[in-house]
Amino acid sequence: MIFGQKMIEINFHEHIAPIIHKNCTPCHQPNRSAPFSLISYEDVAKRAKFIGKVTETRYMPPFPADRKFQAYLNERGLTVGEITKIKLWIEGGMKEGGVGSTVKSEQHFAQQSTETDLVKPDLVLKMNKPYQISGENVEDFRFFSLPSKTATDQYITAIGFKAGNKKNVHHSRLMVDTTNNIRAIDGLSETDPKVYEFQKTGLKEEFLYGWVPGNDKISFPQGTGVKLNANSDFLLNMHYAPSPVPDTDQSEIQLYFAKDKIEREVRNFTLRENDISNKPFLIKANQKATFFISKKIDKAISLISVMPHMHLIGKTFRAFVITPNGEVINLVKIDNWEFNWQMTYQFKLLLKVPSGSTFIVEGTYDNTAENPENPNSPPLDIAYGWGTKDEMFNLVLYYLDYKEGDEKIEQK
Ligand code: HEC
Repeated sequence: MIFGQKMIEINFHEHIAPIIHKNCTPCHQPNRSAPFSLISYEDVAKRAKFIGKVTETRYMPPFPADRKFQAYLNERGLTVGEITKIKLWIEGGMKEGGVGSTVKSEQHFAQQSTETDLVKPDLVLKMNKPYQISGENVEDFRFFSLPSKTATDQYITAIGFKAGNKKNVHHSRLMVDTTNNIRAIDGLSETDPKVYEFQKTGLKEEFLYGWVPGNDKISFPQGTGVKLNANSDFLLNMHYAPSPVPDTDQSEIQLYFAKDKIEREVRNFTLRENDISNKPFLIKANQKATFFISKKIDKAISLISVMPHMHLIGKTFRAFVITPNGEVINLVKIDNWEFNWQMTYQFKLLLKVPSGSTFIVEGTYDNTAENPENPNSPPLDIAYGWGTKDEMFNLVLYYLDYKEGDEKIEQK
């Protein structure tokens, strides 16, 4: 690379380490979700070709939503310049860089690692007891009940999740149960027939929060919070990745409550299977299907975030708003649905949706034998259900009632 007159040789410690430590190491370090570390020169040089490939195809860092469609607070991705730098570094023979710079890049990494988790949560709820992960190399989906035992109503200003076993916890979803009627779900596999009975009871809040590696915490705007009724139970749906050795997990959720009076309540609503215009929600064996939701709202709101949700045979997901003036507001577009990377997409700026606007959501599914993600071979009819082999079609939206000037509020 030539900067001005001088030839600059791209080396690891000066040019590549900062990119890797910022964008890759949060997950690629011991005891985190990724299968290997990317910290030292050796870590990266050893896999340089592979890294060149996954960055060029944008498979890593993982971020399924189209960043050209809408801007998110929590977006991830390398710039074209960064991808090029990595490529040129590899082509240039993966130079390590000057003496003493190893120290520099390790310090850089250490500094980054301590910047997270500074504020203590107000309530930490752990799974009741350690869960025994089998060593039989199987996918395992479990439900756990976490009673909050809160004496009074609270407002949640931020929610986090901490995997007890970072190697095996693949992802998790959090629901709220105000009925206290399904505590017996604690520890059950999602294939247990009792789970289908519980599913019929209906929860107030099917989703509160979804966690995937590297998506540790969601914070609501200053002065706002989600109401949590006293004594609610949390329902944690955990996905454990196959493990060749027995292990244990005791994950926790971390809740941050408002200290001062909340000026504005964060509400949410979910556009769901019942809202589709082409019922029934059934994806026949050997067929592809597209479902549509079109839903009008009659008050102005400010959107904080969206969380799309589908299971294994989901393929694409798209959501936008059409205002009464015919303007289109993009929400989220995922061209290549990845079950493993379900995220809450938090908008950079609060997004005003005027009264009388219509939400349009479109999801496509592929239930053919050609779909490598199909859980059934040969394919079977698939309908609604909590199980991973069932399907869902949801868009969870967090919002505030609109207030003048909201669209200028940058989320943090
Ligand atoms: C949010 C967490 C996260 C971030 C950030 C992340 N990775 Fe990964 N990475 C993973 C996980 C989990 C896997 C294993 C599962 C998979 O392959 O999807 C993985 C797998 C990989 C693989 C192996 C892919 C394969 O097909 O086996 C490579 C190479 C890789 N990451 C490189 C990178 C690089 C380079 C960056 C930064 C530019 C990065 N990752 C950022 C979590 C992450």
